[in-house]
Amino acid sequence: MINSDLLNDRYKRIYSQLQKILNQTENQTARMATVAALLHHKMPRFFWTGFYILNQGNLIVGPYQGPLACQVLEKNKGVCWTALLQRKTLIVPNVHEFPGHIACDSRSNSEMVVPLWNESKEVWGVLDIDSQEFDAFSSVDKENLEEIVTLI
Ligand code: SME
Repeated sequence: MINSDLLNDRYKRIYSQLQKILNQTENQTARMATVAALLHHKMPRFFWTGFYILNQGNLIVGPYQGPLACQVLEKNKGVCWTALLQRKTLIVPNVHEFPGHIACDSRSNSEMVVPLWNESKEVWGVLDIDSQEFDAFSSVDKENLEEIVTLI
């Protein structure tokens, strides 16, 4: 497990890099794709890094990096829907113990889901990150990823 200070520094560098490069377009798909690519390639623990977006009451996959994922998540089930319904970031140290967890890839062992907010304080999607390690995510990931998603 990487030292918390080093991890925090790495996130701060990613944040300032994103601040610089996310000024080319207001397009949210382009911005989500950029965030997913940068996070995925800078964070060795990230096995799947991407977005699920609310569309007519369904959670549909958005830009992502990693192995093939479910395109549509069964309603009100799993980690992404729970984070969205509870309107808060969820850290799941062992996905096999999470009731209703949706296993798009059986190699994932821990997961973190961060809601995306619009200006009216509604949740319009989530950032979802899976790891092959158990207990891969901490409050350092939570605080930094919650900041990073505000850039989208
Ligand atoms: N595990 C998620 C589904 C999405 S995949 O992890 C990419 C869930 O339970 O909602």
